[in-house]
Amino acid sequence: MKKKILLPLLLLALSPVMRESGAGCALAQGNIHKRSTTYEWPKEKDVVENLKAWQDLKFGVLIHWGLYAVPGIVESWSIVDEDWITRDTTMTYQQYKDWYWGFAEQFNPTKFNPEQWAQAMDDAGMKYMIFTTKHHDGFCMFDSRETDFTIAKHAFKDNPKRDVLKYVLEAFRKHQFKIGTYFSKPDWHSQYYWWDVYPTKGRNVNYPVDKFPWRWEQFKKFTHNQMQEILTRYGNVDILWLDGGWVCKERKQDIDMPRIAQMARSHQPGLIIVDRTIHGPYENYQTPERTIPETQLDYPWESCIPLSDDWGYVKRPRWKSPEKVVNTLIEIVAKGGNLVLGVGPTPEGLIQPEAVERLKKIGDWMKRNGKALYNTTTTPHYNEGDVWFTASKDGKTHYAVYMLQEGKSLPAQISWTTNLPKKEVRLVSNGKKLKTKVKEGKVTVTLPAGLPQQSVAMEIK
Ligand code: GLC
Repeated sequence: MKKKILLPLLLLALSPVMRESGAGCALAQGNIHKRSTTYEWPKEKDVVENLKAWQDLKFGVLIHWGLYAVPGIVESWSIVDEDWITRDTTMTYQQYKDWYWGFAEQFNPTKFNPEQWAQAMDDAGMKYMIFTTKHHDGFCMFDSRETDFTIAKHAFKDNPKRDVLKYVLEAFRKHQFKIGTYFSKPDWHSQYYWWDVYPTKGRNVNYPVDKFPWRWEQFKKFTHNQMQEILTRYGNVDILWLDGGWVCKERKQDIDMPRIAQMARSHQPGLIIVDRTIHGPYENYQTPERTIPETQLDYPWESCIPLSDDWGYVKRPRWKSPEKVVNTLIEIVAKGGNLVLGVGPTPEGLIQPEAVERLKKIGDWMKRNGKALYNTTTTPHYNEGDVWFTASKDGKTHYAVYMLQEGKSLPAQISWTTNLPKKEVRLVSNGKKLKTKVKEGKVTVTLPAGLPQQSVAMEIK
C-alpha cells in the first residue's frame, strides 16, 4: 500500500523533466565523469592494433539494462546519499534502499529479445556494442557465481535465458559487432564495499580501508573474480569498459589494475581496457561523457551520449532527433573520435518502438552517406562553418560533409577553402558528379534540387 503511494512521487523526483526544471539538475553534473587531459598509447602491439581497428568503426551502442529499468528511473544513483540527488519520498533512506533492491523480485523480462536489439542497432549502422554486465547498484546481468544478486537468481531465474549476458553477446556477434562489456568498479550492494556496520555517505567505500584491510582485500578478490567470469565464460570480448572512476589508487580504493589487466589479457589477448578517467596504461581510450571535445584529438576517444536524456529506460523519455544524432556523429568523426549512443531496453526486454524508429532513420542516413565516416581518418583542416572533413586512409580522397542544422533547408550552393578538389566533387550517396567551380582558393559546389533535407556527404578528388 505504502509503496503504491510513494512510487509516483519518487518517479517525479528522478524524472528528466524535473531535472530540466532544476530540481535535480545537479544530476547531470553529479554523475558526469571528467575526461582525462593526457593520453598514453598502450605498449602492447596487439592492443594498439585492436584500438586502431576499433577507431575505424566510429559508431556503437552503450546498452544500460538493470534493476533501474523496472521503475524507469536513473541508473543506480538514487540509492546514493549525495547533495545532487533528491528522493522526494517519506521513506527513510534504509527503506528506500530496500525498496530499490527489491526490484530484483520484479525484474522478469519475459519478452527479452536480444535479437531485436541487435537488429535495431545493426539497422542504425552501428558496428560495436557495450553492455552493462553490472552497474553501480551491483545487480549482475550475468549468472555470477560470486553473488546471488544477479538476474539469474531472482524473478527471471526459471527463464532459459536467465544468463542474460550470454544471449545479448550471442545476438550481437551474429551481426558481426565488436563486443564490449561495461563493468562498474564500485558495488553498492556488496558488503565489501558498502558495509552495513557503517552508514553510507556518498558513492565511495563506506569504511576506512586502512583499518579494515581484510575487507578491502575481499572486495578486490570479488571484483577480480567477477571480471574473470565475464572474460572467460562468455566468449570473445574486445573491450572491457570500467566505470566508477572514483575507485582508484589515489582515492585509497586500489583494486590493483595491473593484476586485473594481466588476468584480463591472458584470457582475451589484445583486449582494449577502458579504466575511464584514470589516465595511464589502462585507459586505452578516453570517454568524454555527453559532450564532444572542443578540438580534434589525435589519440583514441569515444563520446558516450544517450539517445534520450537518460542512459536507461525511463517512462517519458526526451528523445534526441535522428538528425541531431547524425550531426553529432559527423562532428565526432571529423575530430577523430567514435560515438557510442546510449539506449536502454524496457523492463520487459525490448527496445521500444520510438527508439527503433529513430535508429532506423540514423541507419538510412548512414547507408547513403556512411562512406564519408566509416574507416576514415582525420584531416588537419577538419571544419569550416557547417562543413566537416574526413579523409580516406590512403590520403587520396577527402570527404566534405555539410551539416544541415535542424530546422534549416539545404542551400543551393556550398563552398569551402581548404581540402580543395583537384578533379571533381561527387555526392557520396549516388556518385553523381556535382557542378563545381574553384576560384581564388575557394570551391563552390552546386547541390542538385530534390535532395533529402538532411546533412549531405561529398567525395572530393
Ligand atoms: C556516468 C554515470 C553512469 C553511467 C555512465 C555512462 O558515468 O554516472 O551511471 O553508466 O555515465 O557513460
